[in-house]
Amino acid sequence: MTGDKKVILSGIQPSGDSITLGNYLGALNNWVKLQDEYDCLYMLADMHTLTVRQEAAKLRSRTLSLLAQYIAAGLDPDKNIMFIQSHVPAHAELAWILNCYTQMGELGRMTQFKDKSQKHADNVNAGLFDYPVLMAADILLYKADLVPVGTDQKQHVELTRDIAQRFNGIYGDVFTVPEPYIAPPSAGSKIKSLQDPTAKMSKSDPNPNGCIFMLDPPEVVVKKIKRAVTDSEAEVAYREGKDGINNLLTIYAAVTGKTVEQAANEFSDSGYGDFKAAVGEATAERLRPFQEKYRELMNNKDYLEAVYRSGAERAGRLAARTLSKVMKKVGFVPR
Ligand code: TRP
Repeated sequence: MTGDKKVILSGIQPSGDSITLGNYLGALNNWVKLQDEYDCLYMLADMHTLTVRQEAAKLRSRTLSLLAQYIAAGLDPDKNIMFIQSHVPAHAELAWILNCYTQMGELGRMTQFKDKSQKHADNVNAGLFDYPVLMAADILLYKADLVPVGTDQKQHVELTRDIAQRFNGIYGDVFTVPEPYIAPPSAGSKIKSLQDPTAKMSKSDPNPNGCIFMLDPPEVVVKKIKRAVTDSEAEVAYREGKDGINNLLTIYAAVTGKTVEQAANEFSDSGYGDFKAAVGEATAERLRPFQEKYRELMNNKDYLEAVYRSGAERAGRLAARTLSKVMKKVGFVPR
């Protein structure tokens, strides 16, 4: 962190066994492109996962696995600070302070809170409500200029801006007011469920065949794509009303680096069966090097440990600087 580049911070929750093809093409793959131009911090948001009940042993192994997936996707530990959120205590400390500068009404309006409290009606805990404040702390600690997020997290970044501006209004320029960085709408960010091509591809798809995971074995990928919902016509073409085919063309284009038009031309004379087989093969092929790298990393736990330890140290130093400034401003006696 030299200070002359803009700072980027983002994170993913280690709440699943594998990132999805959508996560990869829509997020990680873009992060990789940012690593030279920006000072980037990428967090494993383990604290956020506790807002929904987790199994301890699973959370532990998934956190390590997600770090390996970050690196397998191409994030270079020498160029980016990769760290585990709970390893930097300043996140929890700043979140407490920011809680006192955030209104109940603001948090109650967050659409993700409303959605999740319906989905987990038996466990609407205070953490679920407070989740965006912890996220604001994540972002503000590092004076992040840009926060790459999907559209579902944009509201949280906007709340972060409000909190930062409010705090700065009282105490002077303490926080950098961040902006959401919505990646240029690449094909990757538009990938839909294979089983319901009107909905986003998501790991919580009610139908397990709807979502491709980056760690799915090749034969599973091929099978899921073979079963993808299409339509009763017999023409591979990208146009309105053909959501299933459009989605498969989008996936094919994204994993091969071709445009959707090129993809549509390539298959204009194909039947759905051949088309699906080709999309399946191309997707499995794209996952292969990721999975090889992942397995290599998971066999080298010492290396992963070195990465997250050094990440926590570097992140911790930056975070401590902001936190101590904040503590001074609000009137805490210096430690
Ligand atoms: N809430 C984000 C998600 O579920 C993860 C996250 C936590 C995050 N802290 C963040 C993303 C800070 C960006 C910046 O996707």
